[in-house]
Amino acid sequence: MPSALDACRNVADLRALAKRRLPAPVFHYIDGAAEDETTYRRNTDSFDECDLVPNVLAGVDEIDLSVEVMGQKLDMPLFCSPTALQRLFHHDGERAVGQAAQEFGTMFGVSSLASVPLAEIAELVSTPKMFQFYFFKDRALNAHLLEQAKAAKFDVLALTVDTITGGNRERDLVTGFTAPPQWTLRSLLSFALHPGWTLSYLAHEKFELSEMKDYAPEGSDEPMSVGGIFSTLLDQSMNWDDAADLKAQWGGKFCLKGVMSVEDAKRAADMGADGIMVSNHGGRQLDGARAPFDQLAEIVDAVGGQLDVVLDGGVRRGSHVLKALATGAKAVSGGRMYLYALAAAGRPGVARALDLMRSEIVRDMKLMGVTKIADLDRSMLRWR
Ligand code: FNR
Ligand code: LAC
Repeated sequence: MPSALDACRNVADLRALAKRRLPAPVFHYIDGAAEDETTYRRNTDSFDECDLVPNVLAGVDEIDLSVEVMGQKLDMPLFCSPTALQRLFHHDGERAVGQAAQEFGTMFGVSSLASVPLAEIAELVSTPKMFQFYFFKDRALNAHLLEQAKAAKFDVLALTVDTITGGNRERDLVTGFTAPPQWTLRSLLSFALHPGWTLSYLAHEKFELSEMKDYAPEGSDEPMSVGGIFSTLLDQSMNWDDAADLKAQWGGKFCLKGVMSVEDAKRAADMGADGIMVSNHGGRQLDGARAPFDQLAEIVDAVGGQLDVVLDGGVRRGSHVLKALATGAKAVSGGRMYLYALAAAGRPGVARALDLMRSEIVRDMKLMGVTKIADLDRSMLRWR
């Protein structure tokens, strides 16, 4: 009989396995989004309004999936978006995701709210790494994050700009999700019903936000909702000058994560950013916001010649990746597609997710009659 992981044939199966294995507060933190989750659903649904038009008889026995984005050479065009708190999903956390990304030669995004120190990640992972920067009120914490990312030789710094305050994530309000988890009367049953997760959580090193713990107790020694952490600690006065200062202090490849308007994309190009991630944070921030794929063409048309545009959000299938690349994205990134897998089965789970996505991309390229990513273009797309 195949293992539960081998029986997973796609991201939806990995999600179902994660749902079985995780206590409800943790599952819904990953799976949930803001308010009515309209934007969250739209992020994936938007791909259905665009059809692929294949060409045939193209000789597709050899497929080259490599891309270069923000100076990073990747073996596949899909990379792992930075996501927080990974040791809450599986005890190996960032170690598991980083090593699986390395196995597939793709980029590993690491959050400011990571649960493994950047120095340790650098020892484990030598393939391209992105550090995601949250701009805190505490300037000493900002300086520490920059210093650690530099010392660990991260390749790209991504400043997240769509999280100026916490999104209204109602599932987290219902379940009472906090980091670290709190054993409340309401959540206790769910933790007791998932002894695999709970025992593993209790048996491993204490949970903490590795780079933040010496600057803020919230999230490490003091349980707090993620919305609470954002609203309490992030600097809501952040503006374009702060972004430019950060870029100058970093001195390396720099991108803005969470750009959605053409106007902001142009400002990113004007400030000399190497890339932007067209993203609405997986629908977790502003509900009612447009989907990244719906915005992609006009952003590529405006700034595609000046910086690398990455599509982030809603990607669950190889065909979604192809549609974004054909529209003009240099690469595509995703969060939940590997987080469900991390929660379901640790490093082998993430490897399974990346392998399934890679197989879908390869198969779909053959069926589209293209052998390399640069062959994909808008002549192969029709919007309904
Ligand atoms: C995220 N995301 C995120 N983004 C960021 O800039 N810093 C972070 O710490 C996190 N943390 C985080 C946790 C979880 C559980 C999720 C699901 C997402 C957003 C992430 O980088 C990415 O933009 C979205 O996940 C993209 O949408 P999909 O691929 O999940 O649909
Ligand atoms: C989230 C964070 C941490 O979306 O960015 O939950």
